[in-house]
Amino acid sequence: MSARIIDGKAAAARLRERVGEFAAAFEGTAGRKAGLAVVLVGDDPASAVYVRSKGKATLAANMTSFEHRLPADTTEDALIALVDTLNADPAVDGILVQLPLPRHIREAAVLTRIDPDKDVDGFHPVNAGRLATGLNGFVPCTPLGCLMLLKDELGDVSGKDAVVIGRSNIVGKPMAALLTAASATVTLAHSRTRDLPGHVARADIVVAAVGIPHFVKGEWLKPGATVIDVGINRTDDGLVGDVDFNGAASVAGAITPVPGGVGPMTIACLLRNTLVAAHRNAGVALDKDAI
Ligand code: GUN
Repeated sequence: MSARIIDGKAAAARLRERVGEFAAAFEGTAGRKAGLAVVLVGDDPASAVYVRSKGKATLAANMTSFEHRLPADTTEDALIALVDTLNADPAVDGILVQLPLPRHIREAAVLTRIDPDKDVDGFHPVNAGRLATGLNGFVPCTPLGCLMLLKDELGDVSGKDAVVIGRSNIVGKPMAALLTAASATVTLAHSRTRDLPGHVARADIVVAAVGIPHFVKGEWLKPGATVIDVGINRTDDGLVGDVDFNGAASVAGAITPVPGGVGPMTIACLLRNTLVAAHRNAGVALDKDAI
């Protein structure tokens, strides 16, 4: 058997296209464009690449991009002062502070300062709480993109057995919450999980977000399972995922490649969250299911 390859690049292009159309309509109604502010502290090359592509994608989707590049020795107080300014700026609908931050800045102090209704990354504890309790809020972009790919592939995940590997606040925990809300039966596995292959063997859906190259083996999988690989690991062999792709592709029913799977969906979902924020902030109605 050979798995279908889930084309995240194509799905992301379709989503960006729809967001762009809605953003143009928003501008017509609200008399201004939706705006996303991205803050980069320091000069980590990978972060600089992400921030540049976020800026380009924002403009391409008919939104305004505000970029703030601060030196690596910026103080926590100065960064928080910038967040306060962006919170108060009516042209800014969404705020994203690129992670990781320099070590002398406490991530939590900054992320909790962002107005939860501008928190398009969905990292604020208020939004984590909204997700956990079924309230409207912002969902972190990577797990949101994973769920969209799963729904494209499977239609409905209700009643499916899902194993999420990795319990980070950015991916694993919100992924488990989203799948739970979508009525899947969810196991959240992590580094202390006993007999991980035994859990994976029962899963209709496997989401791998551990950050270890080729960690999930093809022989662990239930034949026909849908596999979502969130890993982006730089190795001597180039960019590889958390799943042993070649081994998994001969057992799975469908699988995301790395690159070209989950990655492109993350920025598309960021634009989607910004569009939703703009409508809320401007008091303009939006049918979220239509996006
Ligand atoms: N660094 C890596 N991924 C992300 C993300 O999704 N959001 C932010 N803010 N920083 C990141």
